[in-house]
Amino acid sequence: MKVVIMAGGKGSRFWPRSSDEKPKQFLSLTSEETMLQSTYRRFAGQVDRDGIYIATVQKYVPLVQEQLPELDPLRLIVEPEQKDTGPSIALTALRFLQEGMDEPFVTVPSDHFVGDDEALIKALRAAVELARDDHAIVTLGVVPTRAETGYGYLKTEQHQDGVHKVKAFIEKPDAARAEQLAGMPHVYWNCGIFVWKPSTVAHYMKLHAPEMWKLLEDHVNDPESVYPGLQKISVDYAILEKADQIYCIPAQFEWDDVGSWTALERLFHSDKEGNIAHGPIHIDRSNGNIVYSETQNVIMIGVRDLIVVSTSKGVLVCAKSEEQTLKKMLEALNGSE
Ligand code: GDD
Ligand code: MG
Repeated sequence: MKVVIMAGGKGSRFWPRSSDEKPKQFLSLTSEETMLQSTYRRFAGQVDRDGIYIATVQKYVPLVQEQLPELDPLRLIVEPEQKDTGPSIALTALRFLQEGMDEPFVTVPSDHFVGDDEALIKALRAAVELARDDHAIVTLGVVPTRAETGYGYLKTEQHQDGVHKVKAFIEKPDAARAEQLAGMPHVYWNCGIFVWKPSTVAHYMKLHAPEMWKLLEDHVNDPESVYPGLQKISVDYAILEKADQIYCIPAQFEWDDVGSWTALERLFHSDKEGNIAHGPIHIDRSNGNIVYSETQNVIMIGVRDLIVVSTSKGVLVCAKSEEQTLKKMLEALNGSE
């Protein structure tokens, strides 16, 4: 099984812990290891190490090498800059095709929590078999437990044992649509894991992102000459929302994308006032807050449902209900996270 761990994102919803110099995948958020190290280890224990690749952008190569010294440099797929997962996956597929490789491969995020590694690998092995069909994209789905606006949604119908055919893929719906989708039967969250053949990626890219594909195809060995001009687009918008042959295997394991500060409430126990605090924090008559401080003393009095974070990169004070706005605000500040 070939696995490509995508490790070039910004993780901006974890600002100011996650920063442009050291984004979320390179931080230890849920365990002693960094998210990237946990992801690598998850696969290294179960599949051939020569089949595990890291796709990242040039500026993060030193961080990847520092955190994964055992990684063979030949297993690095390096993008000149951050253009999101659309161009990244296109480049990966082109590199495989160039090597004459058209076996299904797994693209997996570098920054998720998975409760049962063996169950994940089992689902992926089944996905690889399904993805041998021309044009078949296989996703893993999780039953929604809230109206999350930060995820993609898969509307499905039963296809065969344990596999659902996806009728529609809706990426990051607004709050009203997320509420509606989360309550519907046969709807799953997209885990962000895709299994496909390089030629399947090529098929959909040629149909739905032909200009980007052509530029990368012509410059597969010198992507730096075209990369700055490419549209920044995630593969979910570039392909998934438009593809007509997507299957979903429901995940039989605990999963969380640890996507933003409130994820910590799902992964860690809060105190009896419902606060989660890390660092020199002093709390009085305050409930339901998430507080993190690297070094500074933080005092909270009579406040509720806030995210308060202090690091050397900045200070965040945000209503928990507004946390999805953080990414847009950082983008408005010229991506100055
Ligand atoms: N190599 C590379 N290059 N990796 C990237 C880039 C890039 O330019 N941009 C993002 N990534 C990596 C991130 O580091 C992460 O591991 C993964 O690709 C997904 O990117 P995110 O930016 O975290 O995506 P998302 O969380 O907003 O949405 C995706 O994941 C959700 C589940 O967590 C979508 O697939 C949603 O549909 C899905 O529900
Ligand atoms: Mg994510």
